[in-house]
Amino acid sequence: MYRTHTCGELRLDKKGSTVTLAGWIQRKRELGGMTFIDLRDRYGITQLVFNEKTPESVSQNLKTLGREFVIQVIGTVDERSSKNKNIPTGEIEINVKKLKILNSSLTPPFTIEENSDGGDDLRMKYRYLDLRRTPVKNNLLLRSKMSHLIRNYLIEQNFAEIETPDLMKSTPEGARDFVVPSRLNPGQFYALPQSPQIFKQLLMIAGFDRYFQIARCFRDEDLRADRQPEFTQIDCEMSFVEQEDILELFEGLIKHLFKDIKNLSLNDFPRLPYYDAMDLYGSDKPDIRFGMKIHEMTKFLKGKNFKIFDESEYIGGICAEGCGNYSRKQLNQLTDYVKRPQIGAKGLVYLKYNADGTFKSSVDKFYTTEDLKKWAEIFGAKAGDLILVLCGKKSKTQIQLGTLRLEIASKMKLTDNNIYKPLWVIDFPQFEWDQENNRWHAMHHPFTAPKDEDLPLLDTDPGKVRANAYDLVINGVEVGGGSLRIFHQDLQAKMFKVLGFTKESAEEQFGFLMNAFKYGAPPHAGIAFGLDRLVSMFAGLDSIRDVIAFPKNNAGRDMMNDAPSSISDIQLEELNIKVNLPKD
Ligand code: AMO
Repeated sequence: MYRTHTCGELRLDKKGSTVTLAGWIQRKRELGGMTFIDLRDRYGITQLVFNEKTPESVSQNLKTLGREFVIQVIGTVDERSSKNKNIPTGEIEINVKKLKILNSSLTPPFTIEENSDGGDDLRMKYRYLDLRRTPVKNNLLLRSKMSHLIRNYLIEQNFAEIETPDLMKSTPEGARDFVVPSRLNPGQFYALPQSPQIFKQLLMIAGFDRYFQIARCFRDEDLRADRQPEFTQIDCEMSFVEQEDILELFEGLIKHLFKDIKNLSLNDFPRLPYYDAMDLYGSDKPDIRFGMKIHEMTKFLKGKNFKIFDESEYIGGICAEGCGNYSRKQLNQLTDYVKRPQIGAKGLVYLKYNADGTFKSSVDKFYTTEDLKKWAEIFGAKAGDLILVLCGKKSKTQIQLGTLRLEIASKMKLTDNNIYKPLWVIDFPQFEWDQENNRWHAMHHPFTAPKDEDLPLLDTDPGKVRANAYDLVINGVEVGGGSLRIFHQDLQAKMFKVLGFTKESAEEQFGFLMNAFKYGAPPHAGIAFGLDRLVSMFAGLDSIRDVIAFPKNNAGRDMMNDAPSSISDIQLEELNIKVNLPKD
């Protein structure tokens, strides 16, 4: 037997008993004639002690031990004279009688403790060592627990867990595909799934009624803190349901997770139509932990001879409570912020409601004091507040205001990671206009059903068609999204047409699905949650990398095994692939 107990288990009630432990040496300290070792395993840390009574054979070996050696010890559980209140095993120590070195270790390239001195790249390169650190390890254990809870919840609700292929035909979900060459079919490629969307719909046609899968998805898109090229979805689909059934059931799942893991009982999630979200928060994934809603000012501020406002389609602003004392420098910084190319505003107009009740605005020569007072009233501003206003094209300006709102909230520290404010954003537009390619794009995906009452607009004004699509947003993060699906072949064909597919190209790409619709497709709907995002939110982290065992860096590289890498000429030949590398 390698061990009788784990390193996180022993307490004072075992005082005097003989135990066997195994683990890694986190730390070795010499103090007078005594040596202390912190022995670590997945479950915790136990202190080992060696003193003048320790057998000579053990003391001899002790000298050779270094950090991260794997050892096995036999000893007695003693009460510590100076107790450590910070760890659960802090009242005891093991007086070592026997020691066996199970494996040696090179000196690790960074400290493997709660906090590490290793930089990001180094820790990614030695990810297996970083994973020994308690906080990183705990993230993965949390992920495991959440997967388990989710699986149990769905199975209890009669969902069947079904695997779908990873080598498939490309499904357009908006991102680029990762492709895999087929050796047996020269010149042909599989695509890795961006999601199991089409398969889950086919499973509904097959009659499975309730499906789920904790599915790996692959998208070749630019990476950010909340995006990895491969990530995991909790992918679900149901038959004979309406939107209400889906929202209720999955709101239940999310509440269940919060209750079980955080002991939080969440209120019912508010629902906000997409256009209201844009009007009020300038975002389709609003962070509603704080207010600072956008107010439209177009009517009020136009017509006072301020040319820039007069020529704008839309004027809107936010009120930053208590920021009326911002200095010129701080206001300039905010102006520079909104003018950055990523945001693209032309300038920023402010109105300060001074503590003494007077007003100061960057455009006050165009407005009377009475105007400025009214202006402040519209925002419900108090003395000491700062109103910030942007103008331009409506949709663009709203997004800019949304970004500014988040920036101010972060400056004012309004976003407490221990508070959770979920909401459903509903009634998304069916399409968005793709300026570059001069055509409509499906905002969710091409299988999403438009609202019945908007069907006539498909022919006349596609931009106004609303979809039966919904997103779950928590604290400004899109955690999940789904929709009711089209289940009639003729409507699906029409959708492809609006999206610019010819009859032939739709047939070539989706013929199998349209054909399946001819064999009694039931009404169905579904949703998929980003498991990585959900876990990182529960762990209070900003990046999903920290909840993935072996993540990629921002360039899509696995720093540990150095993937992607070139392959041998023989492999290339077998795959019928010629590589033309650009000369540098
Ligand atoms: P969607 O594309 O909205 O919907 O994806 C669902 C959820 O997956 C997560 N997600 C990601 N997480 C990490 N890295 C990424 N690159 C990434 N991309 C998406 C998000 C998102 O809300 N088939 C549909 C679902 C459906 O209609 O049922 C789909 O994939 O949390």
